[in-house]
Amino acid sequence: MSTMSEFELPFPFPVVSYRDGEVVLIDQTRLPQELVWRRCSDVPTLCRAIVELAVRGAPAIGVAAAYGLVLAWERAATVAPDPAAALAIFRRDRAALAGTRPTAVNLFWALERVGGLCERLAVAGEPLAQVAAALRAEADAVLDEDLRTCRQLSLHGAALLPDTAVVLTHCNAGGLATGGYGTALGVVFAAAAQGKQVRVYADETRPLLQGARLTAWELQSQSIEVTVICDSAAATVLRNGSVDAVITGADRVAANGDTANKIGTYPLAVLADRHQVPFYIAAPSSTYDPDIASGAEIVIEERDPEEVRTYGDYRAVAPRVTAFNPAFDITPAALITAHITEFGVLRPPFTSSLGPVLEASRLARGGLA
Ligand code: MRU
Repeated sequence: MSTMSEFELPFPFPVVSYRDGEVVLIDQTRLPQELVWRRCSDVPTLCRAIVELAVRGAPAIGVAAAYGLVLAWERAATVAPDPAAALAIFRRDRAALAGTRPTAVNLFWALERVGGLCERLAVAGEPLAQVAAALRAEADAVLDEDLRTCRQLSLHGAALLPDTAVVLTHCNAGGLATGGYGTALGVVFAAAAQGKQVRVYADETRPLLQGARLTAWELQSQSIEVTVICDSAAATVLRNGSVDAVITGADRVAANGDTANKIGTYPLAVLADRHQVPFYIAAPSSTYDPDIASGAEIVIEERDPEEVRTYGDYRAVAPRVTAFNPAFDITPAALITAHITEFGVLRPPFTSSLGPVLEASRLARGGLA
């Protein structure tokens, strides 16, 4: 069972849950116009939801993938005569989930963790129903741990902010992007809960406007003052001297601290450095990848150029003009003031300070059998 009630969550509802044989997600493509849920009763439907960003944000994708494997096994168990046959079907679904988005490591972390457990139990010949129960418990643990680690890192981050603070953020690293608490926005929520006066500048985050659509909506729903800016206005607000900290989430952090996050994060880090504003990455250990030494090894998802050619329904670019649409960029560790994690605020040199986080990530995922 989820232990969400232990925390005061910014949302009174789960972002991702598993109910009656379905993965149920807030459909983030429809916000802020309407709050509706998407129900995924098979893995191909869930894969589409991940690709279309109905569920998005590295930790939320990880939770969705964990429940996706529960769904995969339950469906396999209804058609397969024995654990070996069910495992073959399960592996196909797991591969489909792994093929949805390449950058957010939480996806692979969750697939290894829950998938590895399934492999071990099925190979040992455990009854189908017992494997199903174990996978459900493991997926619930993924969600519970995400809530706990995001809450912990948010408290560490809140301690960095002065009593009256202005934070600049990019994309959406809030409750919607996680099990429900948030990372960069979790820091803001925790600071506000402590009575600090926090104001936020939210980059709109072209091309899909996660900042304008989701971050502003989340903050407003918590009565936290938010001002949306064009991504290109970040330099101006940083030069004005009104920003105390830039805080973003992450999709994957390499062992040396290099960080992949939403396209536009790297220029923000350059600007923060230029204007001597601290630049923080807030992420749980499930976002840290102990298997890669540096950001050079991170695969950057390239999405449909149509997302750049259009602005919502508006066609902004003449026909046949090409567009380039990398979904993420890499911020070099040298531009990062600190990593805010559940283990505390970790400062350079990251090759040593990130040690416990990388180890926690490795231990939790267990490794594929
Ligand atoms: O393409 P998206 O919307 O999934 O990108 C999300 C981000 O880049 C977030 O900043 C990141 O996943 C951290 S979420 C806590």
